[in-house]
Amino acid sequence: MLKIENLISGYGTVQILNGANMKVNAQSVVALLGGNGTGKSTILKAVSGLIRTWKGTIEFDGEPIQNLAPHLIVQRGLVQVTQGKDVFPAMTVMENLRLGGFVLKSKQKLNDNLEKVFEYFPRLNERKTQLAATLSGGELQMLCIGRGLMSNPKMIMLDEPSAALAPQIVIDIFKNINRIRKDGLTVLVVEQNVRMALLLSDYGYVIKDGVINVEGEAKKLINDKSVEESYLGGTRANV
Ligand SMILES: Nc1ncnc2c1ncn2[C@@H]1O[C@H](COP(=O)(O)OP(=O)(O)OP(=O)(O)O)[C@@H](O)[C@H]1O
Ligand SMILES: [Mg+2]
Repeated sequence: MLKIENLISGYGTVQILNGANMKVNAQSVVALLGGNGTGKSTILKAVSGLIRTWKGTIEFDGEPIQNLAPHLIVQRGLVQVTQGKDVFPAMTVMENLRLGGFVLKSKQKLNDNLEKVFEYFPRLNERKTQLAATLSGGELQMLCIGRGLMSNPKMIMLDEPSAALAPQIVIDIFKNINRIRKDGLTVLVVEQNVRMALLLSDYGYVIKDGVINVEGEAKKLINDKSVEESYLGGTRANV
């Protein structure tokens, strides 16, 4: 579904991605792991068109999408969720969700999707008239994911959905990611919470210095001590 080949990109004149390769099959969950500052978010930003691809190709659904405008990528069914940054704090939960459905043509579809998001996250339904600025960290993350789902994507990319959340909320979020996948979506998840991410995923990639240097089935990576220690500095969640 998503194929990244030899991706080179960065900011200004500073090159961050040095030829990254990865693939996400349809209806799978793939984890992108790596230490701080290794280029995980940069990959997502290049894929969603927020920064330019200098070299290499990004294919979605068999078609090149590198350097397309972000809204055109969303229209094709590929959505990125960035923690807390996608929502408008001075707008209500409901208003934020409606904005997430901006590519939808019919009101009916918008309402159907709203219903689905509220099914995933009943808490958002309870708080639909509340301003986004007043949500708790966990609720805000739910809103970010819900907002991403409003456009009816085929694939969703999540940038550290568990960051700074209490363990119980993390489990909740991960359970929902699993449900999203069961409903037929493809998921790419960037995580520091290595163990949880691999438990949820089919396949994993580890990035270091702007290149992918370890990959494999999640089940195998989870037991691979060298992955954890050498590339991730021993990050481990005890959940
Ligand atoms: N807008 C920017 N301008 C200049 N440099 C940037 C910008 N955003 C990120 N960088 C740099 O690019 C490198 C990779 O950053 P990136 O955000 O992709 O890391 P990451 O793997 O997502 O890390 P983290 O786990 O901390 O989120 C870092 O050295 C960072 O300082
Ligand atoms: Mg990041």
